Parts: sequence; structure tokens; C-alpha cells
Amino acid sequence: METFECIEKRRSIRRFLDTAVEWEKVGNILRAAQLAPSSGNTQDVRIVVVTDKSVREKVAEACIKQYWIASAPVVLVVYSDAKDTKRFYGLRGEKLYSIQNAAAAAENILLAATDQGLASCWVGAFDENMLNSVLGAPNSVRPQAVIPIGYSEMEPEIPKKYNLVDTTYINSWGGKIVNVDLVFNDFSAVLKKKISEAKTTAVEKGPVIGAKLLEKGKEKFNKVKEKIKDRVEEKRLKKEKALEKELGEEEAVLEDTEDNI
Ligand SMILES: Cc1cc2nc3c(=O)[nH]c(=O)nc-3n(C[C@H](O)[C@H](O)[C@H](O)COP(=O)(O)O)c2cc1C
Repeated sequence: METFECIEKRRSIRRFLDTAVEWEKVGNILRAAQLAPSSGNTQDVRIVVVTDKSVREKVAEACIKQYWIASAPVVLVVYSDAKDTKRFYGLRGEKLYSIQNAAAAAENILLAATDQGLASCWVGAFDENMLNSVLGAPNSVRPQAVIPIGYSEMEPEIPKKYNLVDTTYINSWGGKIVNVDLVFNDFSAVLKKKISEAKTTAVEKGPVIGAKLLEKGKEKFNKVKEKIKDRVEEKRLKKEKALEKELGEEEAVLEDTEDNI
């Protein structure tokens, strides 16, 4: 699958089929997580793969009773062990980088799952202590994300997203990008958008404009028809008058002739 297609296809899925996930696919997903960037390559992410049904149920319970999680045949719990990140980068490493490292791994997991035709969901709502106790993890490590994985039972639409112009700034905070494609010199995208807008306008406004033109055409035709009628009448009257005049003259000649006989 193309990278962008995969990114677009990924959705949060909360209903899974009762179908096992191939181990090879799980392995690929774990490899994808491992290949994610990490601060100074500290690789402080740890993952617990949960397949046991009763443990999955307890994990779901710890995720503030999001029981649907247990219906996924595999649940990954992404941890960060911030020992090294703290040692190398202090507070910033402990409180920021370790979270970001886990987030990068989590996103790779979601994409690798999608790429292999699997469904997943990033779950962040859980009781950390409860989760640690379910999985027997020490309190020095922190769960960052729970990711159920399985075959989807649903195909949701892409949720509504804000317009890029409202969430992206150029050169300074708040700098509005009026046309993102133009900023990135993607003229083909600009043209494509304009053509599509023109097509939509034509489809939407075509019938309305067509009806208006037809109305105007009819009005004009009726006016021309009236004018032709007036002209014909005018010509007829003229002819009549000319005839009357001619007759009048002939009558006068006749009267003259009669007088002279
Ligand atoms: C940090 C984080 C925490 C989340 N926690 C939950 C969660 O506890 N339960 C859940 O059902 N979805 C959770 N989600 C999924 C979001 O609801 C989902 O990503 C969002 O609605 C957008 O939908 P999409 O993933 O299909 O694009 C979480 C996502 C993130 C990034």
C-alpha cells in the first residue's frame, strides 16, 4: 500500500471480527514500532503483547471499562521506560521525549496494522496503576497507549477535519495560508481544484441559468412576433390607403368624363 493511502485509510476501529491475527503480521507491526524515531535513539519504548482473553478483559477494564477493547484478538500496550531518556536529557527527556518516543512508535503501529489490512485504535484513557498491576509492570514504567488490533467489523467514514488553512500558519504564528497548494507550488492541485469547482458550479447553476435564458428567449420571441404583426398591419393599412387614393382619383376622372359627354 502507498504510504499516503495508508495514512488516509487508517481509522479508529472499535468493533472487531472474531478472527485471529497472523503472528507474522504482529511481528511486522512490532518491527514498525521499533523503527520509529526516538530521542538520541534511546529506544525507551517497551511493548506488552496481550493475547490471553482474560488479560485482555482486565486491560479493557483498566481502560475505564472500554470493554470493546477485549474483542480484539491482540492488544498492544505501549510503554515508555524513561530511565535512559531521563539520564541523557533530564526533566525534558523524562516528561516530554519519553512520551513523544512512545507516540511515534504508536503511530507506526497503527500504520503498519492498516498496511496489512488490520484495524486498530489508539486508546489513551486508562488507569495507569491498574494497567501496571494487570500486566505486572513496575511503577517506574509508564503505559502510554493501549492499541487493540484485529480485523475490522466496520468501515467508518473519515471524521470531519478542520480546514488546513485554520490549523497551519506560515512563517509566523497566525500567518494565514490562503491557498496551501499555491504555497507549496502545487499548481496541478490548484488547477484540479478550480476545474472541480467550475464543474460543480456548472452542474449546480446550469439548469437555473438555462431556465432563465429560455424565459428571456421566449420574451424576446414574443416581442419580435408583436413587432412583425404591427408591421404587417401597418403595410396593409398603407396599401388600403393607397388603393383608396387611387380609386378616388379614378372616380374623379370618371366624373370629369361624364360631365364632358
Ligand atoms: C492520545 C489519544 C487517546 C485516545 N484515546 C481513545 C480512547 O480512550 N478511546 C477511544 O475509543 N478512542 C481513543 N482515541 C481515538 C480518537 O478518538 C480518534 O483518533 C479520533 O476520534 C479520530 O478518529 P480517527 O482515528 O478514525 O481518525 C485516542 C486517540 C489519541 C491520539
